[in-house]
Amino acid sequence: MHSHITFGYPWQIFYGHLILTCILAPLLWLAFKRGWPVWVRITFALLTFWAVSAAAVVHFEFGLDRVPALTTESFLKSGTGKVLDMGAGTGRSSIMVLQARPNATLVALDQFGASYEQHFGEAGAPQQVLDIGQKRLHANFEAAGVDQRASILQGDMRKMPVETASFDAVVSAYAIDHLNREGRHAAISEANRALRPGGEFLLIVVTKDFWLNYTFGPLMLHGRMPSQQSWIDALEKYGFQVIESGTPPGTLYFLAKKK
Ligand SMILES: C[S@@+](CC[C@H](N)C(=O)[O-])C[C@H]1O[C@@H](n2cnc3c(N)ncnc32)[C@H](O)[C@@H]1O
Repeated sequence: MHSHITFGYPWQIFYGHLILTCILAPLLWLAFKRGWPVWVRITFALLTFWAVSAAAVVHFEFGLDRVPALTTESFLKSGTGKVLDMGAGTGRSSIMVLQARPNATLVALDQFGASYEQHFGEAGAPQQVLDIGQKRLHANFEAAGVDQRASILQGDMRKMPVETASFDAVVSAYAIDHLNREGRHAAISEANRALRPGGEFLLIVVTKDFWLNYTFGPLMLHGRMPSQQSWIDALEKYGFQVIESGTPPGTLYFLAKKK
């Protein structure tokens, strides 16, 4: 059994602001010690405050390096059922569901392709990326103690290799929002096809809110993001009824039911 979970998001996300703090704090100290002009001292003080507070937001609010609490307790309230994770990556959203719902089983679907390489830095031949991705995901499931209830499936979430109406619930976190409009619509329609009638879909996406702009500003490479209403419109268009939505920092989530 592996001792700890490693989600493998780029280190710059976690340590970038701390590195900046290590550079800015001594400069601030020097500015006061040497009596540099007031505007220089104020600038360094503001920049240092921003770097420290942004590091705190990244660590305590975004927490991409740990398993988050289930986004909404209303998801899979029965506590049991077969769940599909669309765009499982290194397992953060899968483990979130499996730990919160200890009687559920889960299929973790990912393409393990270009988008995987881009997020988790696993460049190489397609077969290599697939092998490493699957191994890493399995290792994380083992480390989290959920491997007996999880299986891994390679596939494109726009056209999934799964039976129609074969899942009780679908989760997808920070994955469908990486597709273009056509891809997003295809994936939402596929989520609906995979679910049995009355099945639940927990869709979690990135949103450029105050917190994301505060921490990463122009460095955030997600391009133009759909509004909350356009996600709701797309969900309704493909046969879902949205029963809950929320806006935790940097995130939009929707809990929808297949009509
Ligand atoms: C940012 S990661 C999110 C991983 C995980 N859900 C989480 O919460 O950490 C996005 C994942 O979506 C996957 N992905 C992107 N496009 C996909 C597609 N068309 N089909 C299947 N997976 C895809 C990528 O390979 C990547 O692992």
